[in-house]
Parts: sequence; structure tokens; C-alpha cells
Amino acid sequence: MISIGLIGVGGICQVHLKNLVKMSGVQIAAVCDIDPHRAQEVGKQLDATPYTRYRNMLRREHFDACYVCLTPSVHGTIEYELAEAQIPFFVEKPVHLKLEFCEGVLNEVDKHNLITAVGYHWRYMDTTKAVKAFIAKRRITAVDGGWQGAIPEHALWWPQMKLSGGQLVEQATHIVDLARYLAGDIDTVFASGTKGAFADIDKYDIYDASLTNLQFDSGAVGVISTGCVASGTVPSRVGLTVSGRGWQADVKQRDGQIIHERGKRKLKDNAKDFIEQIGRGDAAFIHAVKTGKTDRIRSTYRDATQTLAVTLAANESMRTGEPVTVERFM
Ligand SMILES: NC(=O)c1ccc[n+]([C@@H]2O[C@H](COP(=O)([O-])OP(=O)(O)OC[C@H]3O[C@@H](n4cnc5c(N)ncnc54)[C@H](O)[C@@H]3O)[C@@H](O)[C@H]2O)c1
Repeated sequence: MISIGLIGVGGICQVHLKNLVKMSGVQIAAVCDIDPHRAQEVGKQLDATPYTRYRNMLRREHFDACYVCLTPSVHGTIEYELAEAQIPFFVEKPVHLKLEFCEGVLNEVDKHNLITAVGYHWRYMDTTKAVKAFIAKRRITAVDGGWQGAIPEHALWWPQMKLSGGQLVEQATHIVDLARYLAGDIDTVFASGTKGAFADIDKYDIYDASLTNLQFDSGAVGVISTGCVASGTVPSRVGLTVSGRGWQADVKQRDGQIIHERGKRKLKDNAKDFIEQIGRGDAAFIHAVKTGKTDRIRSTYRDATQTLAVTLAANESMRTGEPVTVERFM
């Protein structure tokens, strides 16, 4: 039996929990949320000890692993402290808003050769796997993706730059991460954004829409767009297309396709819902904690820090109007 602790038991943690409670040999021993009602309620549901301060929880409990499901601005030194205590952790994306904190975590993770995983679930999709296999011996020339989505309801932190980092850092990060997973690392970004269309929303100060040009190490070029456009009858448009000479491959949230010289292949993600999509990353992490074998994990803290570096460089480029070289962690 492995013992798991949870830090932050809001929206996405509930999705992970649906997967974790079905796994054999996994016990949720304690939960922590600064919202005392939430901590009590979730603790009661799981027969786990509730805490409102993670340090108290870490002092009193002995975990084999921890989940950290916090909004971007409140990670502080939590992952550093977990790494220092040699507790393997799964953390939700984006891993932080400040790269200097991630660097400290990475040093500690390396020191202890610690297992880490991050919730970039697009890497685990069947569509992504098919595209990854298809491009293995092909040269990507262009990457074209975006997240034209909606402002998440009830997430008051989301439209505030200092709390979320903005749509590229918080939401379209999945697409930037997928671009890196398929096309390799990004050297330079050059981005622009627009503001003002949502001035009526209290404290809204993120970009309404953005375009980020990407220059990959491989020589490929790319662009990622974001926009808060979906509402009512206007659907979201989310996904990534990679292409090269004579071929094109698309990955979307549930499906995709590959078009090449010899025809067209439709792709489908076989997970029955979002919970199952998220569950693949959970299974990979728990397998690693139980066995010590990390080969199923497709997104580590180091890799996710590199994705964060790209999106933060894009924010800097939007602010300054200049191209920005991406800081390296890989
Ligand atoms: N992988 C995905 O597709 C996916 C989907 C949704 C959200 N997310 C990510 O998950 C993260 C969390 O999002 P959410 O929607 O669950 O947010 P949420 O606000 O619903 O939950 C966060 C919880 O953390 C608690 N909290 C805040 N500070 C704390 C602290 N110091 N100690 C303990 N608890 C604390 C809050 O009270 C809240 O209950 C975000 O970074 C988001 O980007 C990922």
C-alpha cells in the first residue's frame, strides 16, 4: 500500500481523485487545503486527515508521494520542500510563475534523483502517440497551434496576470508543451498581445488574444495563438498542427488526422472522457512510485519547467515588443 497526500483539493484535484480512488494499493492518507471547509469535506469523503497548512501535514504524516494541485501563483516553496523531504510529487501545470523557484526545485530533485510528474495530459493521448510515431523519421518545418477558448467560470484568479500568468501561461501551455513534445525545443519567441475588450470584468488584466512566433532549435518555425473568444454559441478551437514537405498532422482534444502523400488517416483519442485522459498521467506516476520505474512518465518537472520558460519568455516579449531568447533547463 502506498500513502498519498494531497495539497490543494479544488477542481482538478477532484478529477485526479476519481482515478486515484480506483487504484489498488493506493491510500489517500491526508489532504490539505487553505479553505478549511473544503479540507474537512474532502478529508471526510476519503477518510483522510484534513489539514489547512501543508507544513503541519508534512511534519506529521509520512507519504510515499504527494499531489500538488494549486493555482499558478501560490506554489511558493512547496515543491522545494517536498523534494527536500524526498517525497515524489505530481504537480499540475503550469508548475509555477517564477523560474528561479523552479530552478531551486530542480536542484533538489536532481540531488535525490526524485520521481516527478506534471499534468500535461496531451502527451498521453492516443492521437499524440500516433502523430509522434508518424513524425519519427520526418522533418517538421512548421508548427501551428492555438487555444481559442473561454474564460473559466468561477475561477476569479484566472483573468488576473499576477495570479494566473495569463492565458498562454495557464491554458495554452498545453499546446506549447505539445509543440515541444513533437517538434523539440524552442530557442526564441517573438509575441504580441492585445488588451481592452474585457475591461468590464473586475480585475481582468490578461491579454485578450495573443500571437507567439516560435523559432525551434531544429530550424522549424511556429506560431501559437490564444484568445478568450468562446461563449454561448461560439465554440472553443483548441489544437496543434505540425507539418512538413508533403504531410500535415493535427492533434485536437478528442481527435486528429494525418494527411500525407498516400492519403488521409483519421485519429481518435480512445479515452472515454476527460477523467480517463487525466488518468493516464496518474497511472504513469503511481506506477513509478510503486516500482521505481519512470519510463511511463511523459512529463517531468524539468520538462514542464522548460515549457513554462517558453510561455514566460512570450509574456516578456509581449511586454517589451522584442524577441526573447528562452532560458534553458533541458
Ligand atoms: N491538466 C489540466 O487539464 C488542468 C485542468 C484544470 C486545471 N488545471 C491546473 O490545476 C491548477 C489548479 O486549478 P483548479 O482549477 O483545481 O483550481 P482551484 O482553485 O479549483 O483549486 C485550487 C485549490 O488550492 C487551494 N489552495 C490555495 N493555496 C493553498 C495552499 N497554500 N495550500 C493548500 N491549498 C491551497 C484552494 O483553496 C483551492 O481549493 C491550475 O494550475 C490549473 O492550470 C489543469
